[in-house]
Amino acid sequence: MADVRRAAAEVFGAGLSRAERFAALLERHGVERGLIGPREVDRLWERHLLNSAVIGERIPPEVEVVDVGSGAGLPGIPLAIARPDLRITLVEPMARRVEWLTEVVDDLDLDVRVLRGRAEEKAVRAEIGTVDVVTARAVAPLARLVGWCLPLLREGGMMLAMKGASARDEVARDADAVTRASGGTPTVSECGAGLVEVPTTVVIVERIRPQASAHGKRRRNTVGVRSKRAG
Ligand SMILES: C[S@@+](CC[C@H](N)C(=O)[O-])C[C@H]1O[C@@H](n2cnc3c(N)ncnc32)[C@H](O)[C@@H]1O
Repeated sequence: MADVRRAAAEVFGAGLSRAERFAALLERHGVERGLIGPREVDRLWERHLLNSAVIGERIPPEVEVVDVGSGAGLPGIPLAIARPDLRITLVEPMARRVEWLTEVVDDLDLDVRVLRGRAEEKAVRAEIGTVDVVTARAVAPLARLVGWCLPLLREGGMMLAMKGASARDEVARDADAVTRASGGTPTVSECGAGLVEVPTTVVIVERIRPQASAHGKRRRNTVGVRSKRAG
């Protein structure tokens, strides 16, 4: 526990009290609202908050990030707390999860946008345009994920897919799908070494070709969008 506290202080810095508040909200409501399993309550910091926030190691300063399939807010909320320099949008199709995410963003007073919809939907793509980084944790196999996430990236942008032990197998199995989706050669990277007991494995895919068709410029606060940021 002492190590977890030290890591939390290091990873969240000035945002530590917000991270504690997020952990408390998940602990109090996460199970009853179907966001986390009952066994997760005792390992929220290691398996969820820290494990999510450490992927910030691979994200450059002050870029625009979309977290696809945010669910309970992972990795998007810990990332927003640890990295207030990022402009973050959480994309989630399920109404009750969107409600949760909106409540959390309000409660923690985070400058984060919540967008309801599926990443591959035309309206979602039009709303987001293209960004620098897309994150996803536990959303879909790599082949499907690149089809949903890479169209949201500018050329040279990066998808960071948090994967467990399956990372290298998925990269080998889904290489063709990555190429078809305009992705470069995936790399597998470990984040959080020396901070978390089990480093977070991330599959990183760069978008190497521009989009075949433009999705239009980013617009704010249209259908299903909740934002605190000034538009
Ligand atoms: C297993 S949960 C993981 C949630 C969270 N990322 C986490 O690690 O706790 C998968 C989430 O992805 C969302 N999802 C599924 N398909 C999606 C899509 N096409 N676009 C955006 N989100 C999607 C689901 O609604 C669900 O909330």
